[in-house]
Amino acid sequence: MLQLENEIAQKPKHCIGLFGYGTVGKAVYDVIQKTPGLQACIQKIGIKDTGKKRNIQDDIFTTDAFEILNNSCINIIVELIDDADVAYKIVKAALLQGKAVVTANKKMIAAHFNELCQLQKQTGTPLLYEGACCASIPIIRNLEEYYDTDLLLKIRGIINGSTNFILSRMEKEGLEFTEALLQAQQLGFAENNPALDIDGHDAANKLSILLAHAFGCVIKPETILYSGISKINGEDLRCASQRKQKIKLIAHAQKLKNGKLATYVLPQFITKEDELAGVHDEFNGLITESHYADRHFFKGKGAGALPTAAAVLSDIAALRYGYKYEYKKIDAQKNIKLSNDYYLKVYVSADVFSKINCQAFEYIEEYQNQYGYGAVTGVIHAEKLLEDTWWKQSGVSLIACPEAITQEADYKKISRRSLELAGIT
Ligand SMILES: NC(=O)c1ccc[n+]([C@@H]2O[C@H](COP(=O)([O-])OP(=O)(O)OC[C@H]3O[C@@H](n4cnc5c(N)ncnc54)[C@H](OP(=O)(O)O)[C@@H]3O)[C@@H](O)[C@H]2O)c1
Repeated sequence: MLQLENEIAQKPKHCIGLFGYGTVGKAVYDVIQKTPGLQACIQKIGIKDTGKKRNIQDDIFTTDAFEILNNSCINIIVELIDDADVAYKIVKAALLQGKAVVTANKKMIAAHFNELCQLQKQTGTPLLYEGACCASIPIIRNLEEYYDTDLLLKIRGIINGSTNFILSRMEKEGLEFTEALLQAQQLGFAENNPALDIDGHDAANKLSILLAHAFGCVIKPETILYSGISKINGEDLRCASQRKQKIKLIAHAQKLKNGKLATYVLPQFITKEDELAGVHDEFNGLITESHYADRHFFKGKGAGALPTAAAVLSDIAALRYGYKYEYKKIDAQKNIKLSNDYYLKVYVSADVFSKINCQAFEYIEEYQNQYGYGAVTGVIHAEKLLEDTWWKQSGVSLIACPEAITQEADYKKISRRSLELAGIT
């Protein structure tokens, strides 16, 4: 035992070059100071703005990335900046120099997934990014390691903390959307560019990373059918409440009968019995379904300084025992493809009924057309949603119904004639 402790003590310290001293960077700096057992020290911190007042000694900061990247004492780069393009250049340069990298930058990872895998193979140097998906929930390592033999059939969850915070505040306190967004920004949950969160880009980026680790499916986030929560209005929330349901931004991926993957990120009505209905504020929740284990439910803080810092810290610790992602499923499941050949049951509301393209539906179950305001519940083909833009225009909000996916148009088709008689064509 004593010998092992001595061996650990003799191992070289993690000498870290940190990029970014914002919400997460500062928290990582603090938790590293409070975790001596990690044997890690932060040698230099890369920032952008020299005019900002910082709470630690000035000489640790630099605006010259190469002062960090070319420092041979530094063996780990922790990248926590909010600029995905610069972040990619830093991460690439670090890996090429044989420096291990920890990052939480989902936009950068999603945009360059293939190149980053290639760089890790080429250099044999690890890149870890647990903090990039669901912050404090240890989901990537679980998807990578645990579901290696018991293969996954489905993952679905709430994977963006700020939109969940906004929806929770709108529902519980009756806040307006903009007020709730401001609170999320003040608490450090939201991205600097709020569109990344509220328009669903962030969740699509995270889902694309999760798909690679869960199913070995590598795709660009823009190929996913996705939208955000910015058009959810008071009427939608009232409709949810009447149905005794909640609205959450849900990321969903499931294997279809043909072996392909159906995926989406959409606001969705959630029944009270669904575990995800109990995921509030900045929390995230993810449900996995696999062949033998059946269902697992992960829940934890999905945004914020300390929860994200916890994931970064865990990655730094994992580097100590040489951990790296093996991406085995990507190699094994070369043919797994995304499919948009499935149907979704959705609820669409609009400030002007004519904005709803009723012709796009396979089947309309219910509709409402009063004083110009309108709403339609029906079944629509996913490909049509991907191709069309009518449901993305201002004043139109689309929410998936619970259990939204179906593969066959097994809904009774309403004849166009009856739609005409109802005056909604
Ligand atoms: N906040 C969260 O809850 C959360 C959760 C999970 C993942 N993340 C990810 O973590 C990363 C950091 O997020 P954050 O919330 O900490 O952002 P933030 O508070 O806006 O901080 C960004 C930091 O990056 C620095 N920076 C920007 N451009 C730079 C450049 N070209 N060179 C050097 N430094 C640069 C800024 O420097 P200055 O200080 O000089 O301006 C600042 O210190 C992002 O990728 C984000 O997506 C955040």
